[in-house]
Amino acid sequence: DELLLMNGPNLGILGKREVEVYGTSTLADIEALVAAEVAGRGWRVTSVQHDCEGELIRTLQDSYDTVGAIINPGALMIAGWSLRDALANYPRPWIEVHLSNVWAREQFRHESVLAPLATGVIVGLGADGYRLAAQALLHQIPA
Ligand code: DQA
Repeated sequence: DELLLMNGPNLGILGKREVEVYGTSTLADIEALVAAEVAGRGWRVTSVQHDCEGELIRTLQDSYDTVGAIINPGALMIAGWSLRDALANYPRPWIEVHLSNVWAREQFRHESVLAPLATGVIVGLGADGYRLAAQALLHQIPA
């Protein structure tokens, strides 16, 4: 079984991106965190990061047979309407994660066009949010 870990624009440079906002964990660190969390269930993690919305959409279209997904859409949360349409057709539970507390930040980050489709949303807990999302999916998805 495969769990999709999908990160959007500007998240490939985690660890050296505004570390005061996003922390020092790299995407590789986060992948390891998630993989360790779900290993007990026998799930493997497929990690994908793209800066372009179209590539994220294509990934989703190719991932209907995954068990579920953890998705940090980055700024596409704000107006990623095509990504939203792709998520509407993703048949599995998925959790939206944001490292930073978007509501403690600029007004333009306060609304996600994707979140209404998510099973749940985790914000502001840094890299730990991904681990918690993995744990939540273990609970959401029957063994
Ligand atoms: C983010 C929050 C977004 O507002 C921002 O555009 C990002 C990262 C987060 O993880 O905190 O790229 O998704």
